[in-house]
Parts: sequence; structure tokens; C-alpha cells
Amino acid sequence: MIDLLLCFDDESVMGEALARAVGCPFEVIQRHRFPDGESKLRLPPRLPSRVALLRGLQQPNDKLAELMIAAPAARELGARTLALVCPYLAYMRQDMAFSPGEAVSQRHIGAALASWFDGVVTIDPHLHRVATMDEVLPGKRGLALSAAMLLGDWAARHAQQPILLGPDDEAAQWVRAAAVAKGLDHGTCIKQRSGDREVAVALPDMDFSGREVVLIDDVASTGRTLVAAAEALLLRGASSVDAAVTHALFIDDALAQLAAAGVRHVWSSDSVAHASNVVSVVPLLAAALRAPPAH
Ligand code: R5P
Repeated sequence: MIDLLLCFDDESVMGEALARAVGCPFEVIQRHRFPDGESKLRLPPRLPSRVALLRGLQQPNDKLAELMIAAPAARELGARTLALVCPYLAYMRQDMAFSPGEAVSQRHIGAALASWFDGVVTIDPHLHRVATMDEVLPGKRGLALSAAMLLGDWAARHAQQPILLGPDDEAAQWVRAAAVAKGLDHGTCIKQRSGDREVAVALPDMDFSGREVVLIDDVASTGRTLVAAAEALLLRGASSVDAAVTHALFIDDALAQLAAAGVRHVWSSDSVAHASNVVSVVPLLAAALRAPPAH
């Protein structure tokens, strides 16, 4: 349980909803951006003992700098335990050096968060080569919740006995969780990415003809993964393709590309505020914050 939820001024809508669901007060961290790009933060002058700070890390770089300031400031102002509630946790995909000299961002961002916070609660982090959030946060507690069941339930109610399909291996965990609960057919593709916007997807050996298919993934950024899968599915005779993702980043022309590829509906959780949001992660986060700390 927590005594106070802190959030930044641009996330006060979710902050208020989450605090209401937890049954605790919430306060907003005010920011001033200096002309040269630095941030000045103003927290409540006196904080209670157990504080959680809500911060989603879409467009993460400036936000990480502000967390680096806000976390020690919160402790100076009275917080004795400080958790980060981070619906979208960025930098989890770079989990190995794919070529010599590449920094393993997941490891270093994880270490930084572990030095600022006592624990991190997040939704569907992109964990591939490490199994748990505890491994991402050396010596601290990490909790990974999932929106997959919410999206699977939505898909089952809005498509006709759909096949749930993950566009790559990593999505298998979310697709399986969503499909098994609803008794739906499911599978995963094999993906090859050769550039930021260059993606090839090979479909599994399943019969898609005349079937409604819902693509399920943790995150869509350029949308090219979903586009490649949707194009292949329609060529193989799928009667419709919808996409359901936990984190709706959808940068630049992503949504237009999906529409051009024939994707019928785009659905997402509200872990990242977006026009496609149809299910809410607030109850999941609230249940985690209400639970007594695990030992
Ligand atoms: C990576 O494996 C993720 O699960 C997503 O499939 C990927 O990040 C989506 O990126 P984009 O939308 O840019 O293809």
C-alpha cells in the first residue's frame, strides 16, 4: 500500500484515475522548461513515507533526466520508500549487443532505475533474453503485469472466433495467455528486421483462409511489424486483420501505413494515451499498488 501517488503534470488524468482506484491521495509534480531545455521540477514540500511515482517512458530521454532529479528530491522531502509506476518501460528491446560495441541499453537503464527507486511496476515489458523484471533491476523489486488478457478478451468480443497471432517469437507469451483463456486458435510468425522500417514476416503453417485474425503484440512503434504481418495474412486469404497492442506508440505515419495495409481496427491498452485505447490498465496497476510488499 502507498500513502501518496505522485505524477507529472502531463499525466494527471491517469494519475487521478490510479489514485482513485488505489484509494490514496495524488499530487502533481510541476515542471518548468528553461529556454535551453533544462527542466525545473517542483514537488510537494513534504512527502509521506510510502510514495509511488507514475511515469510512462514513451519518448523517454527527457523523462529519464527528470526521473533522475525527481527520485532523490522525493527522498529529501520525506519519502522513505519510492516505487516507480511505469506503464510503458522504454529501452527494454536493446537487450544484447547486436553488433560489437553496441551498448546494452536494457541493462544500463535498468541499473539507473534500480539506483533511483526501490521497485518498478510496469506492463508487458519487452523481456526476451531475461526472464523477469528483478533481473532488469539489480537488487530491487520489479513487477511485470500484462494487458494481454484484457486485449484477448476485447478481441474475442469484437472479432468472429478470431485467430490470435503474434508477429514474432517474443509475442508468443502474450498471444498464448490471451488465446488460452478464451479458447481461441493462436500462433506466432517469424520476423526479420533489417532496418527501422524494413521488416519481413513469415506466417506459421496454419489455415487462415476465411478467418478473422487479430495480431497481438506488446508494442507498435513504426507499425511496420504489423503491416508486414497484415499484408501476408490478407494474401493468405484471411477475411479480416485487426491489431491489438499493449503500448500504442504509433509514431509518424504508422496508423496510415496500417490502414493502407488493410488493417481493419487498431486497439490498444491505455498504458500509452492514444486514440486507439480500448482497455484500461489502471485496475491492474491499482491492484499491484494496494498489495502488501512481497518479501
Ligand atoms: C519487437 O520485437 C516488438 O515486440 C515489436 O514487434 C516491435 O517493437 C514493433 O516495432 P515496429 O512497430 O516499429 O515494427
